[in-house]
Amino acid sequence: MKVNQAEFIISAVGPDQYPNDGLPEIALAGRSNVGKSSLINKMINRKNLARTSSQPGKTQTLNYYRINTDLYFVDLPGYGYAKVSKSRRQEWGEMIERYLLEREQLKVVLQIIDLRHPPTKDDQAMYEWLVYEQIPRIVITTKADKISKNKRNKHLKVIKDTLHLEKEDPILLFSSEEGLGKDELWGLIQNQIAK
Ligand code: GTP
Ligand code: MG
Repeated sequence: MKVNQAEFIISAVGPDQYPNDGLPEIALAGRSNVGKSSLINKMINRKNLARTSSQPGKTQTLNYYRINTDLYFVDLPGYGYAKVSKSRRQEWGEMIERYLLEREQLKVVLQIIDLRHPPTKDDQAMYEWLVYEQIPRIVITTKADKISKNKRNKHLKVIKDTLHLEKEDPILLFSSEEGLGKDELWGLIQNQIAK
């Protein structure tokens, strides 16, 4: 996909603020600090349109980025960040859950997982829930540049096994540093939109 224009649209705290032009939406879910915003930036060739930070728990709203007039990336708040109060965490959880269950424009969830480590309990719960709710998903293992090439497949296997990855679900290696997986991911996204 050729990205001619990428624009930040809104940090939404609820459905009233979601865009109403009906474009397909691609949501990113994953642990805080796993690299969701970095992945968006890599996909659109921008250094810092989606705000990244070494400080976890920064993204606390649904952040919409419009790509050309083709689609939105929706950067969801990261889960599993302990320093946030329980009531606050529950609030976010409810907002995300409603978005994922009710949003008709949502075409696919990119579940982002750190290639370096086995999926956490939160990662496992998220994936299981997406399967249960039959929400289309693509598993993306990121920060691949931090694992040497000859060990990547081994890490990939641990992730597949721990998640009990469904046969039909795509999984791919990604690096926001190096651009690994970018073209393949655009292909998968475009397939999903065309369905
Ligand atoms: P929250 O918004 O807090 O949920 O975090 P996030 O998932 O959006 O993570 P973000 O993109 O801000 O990245 C967190 C940190 O990981 C930053 O320091 C990034 O530079 C780094 N990072 C992200 N992706 C990669 C990658 O593919 N390779 C390497 N080496 N570092 C990465
Ligand atoms: Mg972020």
